[in-house]
Amino acid sequence: MSTDTHVSNRWSSRYAYILAATGAAVGLGNIWKFPYIMGENGGGAFVFVYLICVLLIGIPVMMAEVVIGKRGRSTPANAVAHVATEAGHSSHWSIIGTMGVLAGFLILSFYIVIAGWAAAYVFYAGSGEFSSAAADPATNAEAIGTLFGNLVSSVPQLLVWTTLTMTAVIYVISKGVKGGLETAVTYLMPALLVLLVAIMTYSAVVGDFAAAFSFMFDIDFSKLTIEGVLVALGHAFFTLSLASGIMMVYGAYLPDGVSIAKTSIMIAIADTMVALIAGLAIYPIVFAHGLEPSAGPGLLFQSLPIAFGSMPMGDVVGTVFFVMIVFAAFTSAIALLEATAAYLEERQGMPRVKAAITAGIAIWICSLGTVFSLAGTEWAQINFGFMGSNIFDMLDYLTANILMPLGGLLISVFVGWIMKTEVIKEEFNLAQWQFTTVMVLLRWVAPLGILFVFANSVGLLDVIK
Ligand code: PFF
Repeated sequence: MSTDTHVSNRWSSRYAYILAATGAAVGLGNIWKFPYIMGENGGGAFVFVYLICVLLIGIPVMMAEVVIGKRGRSTPANAVAHVATEAGHSSHWSIIGTMGVLAGFLILSFYIVIAGWAAAYVFYAGSGEFSSAAADPATNAEAIGTLFGNLVSSVPQLLVWTTLTMTAVIYVISKGVKGGLETAVTYLMPALLVLLVAIMTYSAVVGDFAAAFSFMFDIDFSKLTIEGVLVALGHAFFTLSLASGIMMVYGAYLPDGVSIAKTSIMIAIADTMVALIAGLAIYPIVFAHGLEPSAGPGLLFQSLPIAFGSMPMGDVVGTVFFVMIVFAAFTSAIALLEATAAYLEERQGMPRVKAAITAGIAIWICSLGTVFSLAGTEWAQINFGFMGSNIFDMLDYLTANILMPLGGLLISVFVGWIMKTEVIKEEFNLAQWQFTTVMVLLRWVAPLGILFVFANSVGLLDVIK
């Protein structure tokens, strides 16, 4: 195997990079998770705190990851080791990169299952399930509940949808960075935007837009809890795809001369806009139909279809809506597989196609843990007492509450304190005041903020209290 581990892939343009990174960022987190956690945590005040988290922590950490990837020009563990040794420090810092790739691997193992639900719902909506459930208003909610319940409790159904989605993801990644990833996002991202704006417009016309708008933007801090602040910070990480290997890998493919600061800001703005537009597409329907804004994870799959069934052109709109979710989830799933596939390609010297298939199959096998958790199979019901009650909950907890915050903390400390300042300065290429601001955020604000979340999520603050 060659000792030169540097990747030779590059995005063909700055635009391609922005599309791919925005594709990685925009996903189920924006359209499925953000609306319901906003609903559960008090609306406007939560949105406000979330925006602050993106601005003060999310963007600097994204810049830090990209700069490591770009400077190291290799997959995360090697890139971190390269940058650390360049600054005269131990190559053991590479653990940061390894943790990221591991987090990405684990996230994809459950993300792909939920992406599969969305694919199943395209089929349900398209075959008129929502409108036939709505034929009898008295049993509409119950019929939709049964539809969802049957899907998530059926191993064969979950397996079919998960496997189909995973196969498509493997196919794209096997085609490489330019031929696969870039081509996919070039079509899917503009399509996603068009569908999203179309649905928001429809929703504004037939739904209660005013109620949705005031729910999302009237800031009432009395509705915000400390838990809400922590959820907002955790979500900023998840939605921007931080600390999961991706942004380092995408940074390694960044052509020279592209501004890391400007592109990171643009990606964060695009991601946030999509989350807000998704809220403005979903909540008018929720309010117009008297549904519960704090319905939780079922908001998208159990509440909205109740409304779709009785709305004008509801089956068509429902189909388009779930197609949009599949596109969003797909562009994140390919990013997640890229991290593991690139690792196998570089570290194990595997050819691209073999790396994509091997990584995909390994993750598919892990996804069985989530499939069987949902279906209630006994071996998947693992309970350590604090990470939920099955493998799915455990993976979610482990990635969102442990690996991501810890990874983000280490990344900001690494770039803030370990990496050579001249190197960062050269790579960021910012005016002095801008550079100083980013460094203050990376050295102090991000680590302390993350430490606060982390301590809380693993229950340390409860012990102190
Ligand atoms: N950012 C994606 C979303 O919001 O759905 C989720 C995600 C993708 C997280 C890729 C992490 C990642 F590496």
